[in-house]
Amino acid sequence: MLKLSERLLLTASFVRQGAVLADVGTDHAYIPAFLIKNAVISKAYACDINEGPLQNAAKTLESENIDGVSLILSDGLKNVSKSDISDVLIAGMGGELIARIISDCDWCEDKQLNFILQPMTKADYLRKFLYKNGYEIIKESIAAEGEKLYTVMLVRYSAVKQDISEAFALLGAPAEDDMFKLKKEREIKRLKKVRDGLLMSSTNKEEIKQIELLISELEVY
Ligand SMILES: C[S@@+](CC[C@H](N)C(=O)[O-])C[C@H]1O[C@@H](n2cnc3c(N)ncnc32)[C@H](O)[C@@H]1O
Repeated sequence: MLKLSERLLLTASFVRQGAVLADVGTDHAYIPAFLIKNAVISKAYACDINEGPLQNAAKTLESENIDGVSLILSDGLKNVSKSDISDVLIAGMGGELIARIISDCDWCEDKQLNFILQPMTKADYLRKFLYKNGYEIIKESIAAEGEKLYTVMLVRYSAVKQDISEAFALLGAPAEDDMFKLKKEREIKRLKKVRDGLLMSSTNKEEIKQIELLISELEVY
């Protein structure tokens, strides 16, 4: 029986009941397989840029006896036509790559589509890209696996293009839960380390001032 990690479980939980899913960078196709097994969806496109992961995906589908998943060799969504897709999931990649995949997609500016995005790095870059390009984060949650925290975002196209603050780019919308508080504490600690390093080595007072300003913003965020 398929058992997902906390990160993948949280990511999968953002997919709508009855969705037709495009899982980009599917690797073993664990998410489509899990969602079909649990009767959340009945149809998915499992996409990957490499043959090896698609072979892994085929093995999962065969061993779990799952129908309804089409395997597509594709860089992002380039070889994937929109057809009946309702939810696009991109997990386990860097924020810059996720942004590039959305930017290269010629059918993604659609207000009906749900995007479930789980960046492993550069979440701040991804948030800035999304808002600059008319996308909006509807909700965000954090999964913990040991010491590691993973952000999952539900995103829709809104056509409203805007710049966001550095604090919002780093943390997303403020929340009351413990995971958010932990993420905020870690971000502040990281920035203080950067500032201390600069204080020792740099004469760029303006850069140090900017970081201190951001730390103060985050402390009351
Ligand atoms: C680290 S795995 C993540 C697998 C799974 N989505 C997860 O979250 O555990 C990244 C996968 O993305 C695929 N990948 C990398 N760049 C890609 C791209 N431009 N388009 C599609 N797939 C890509 C890799 O081949 C690999 O299978």
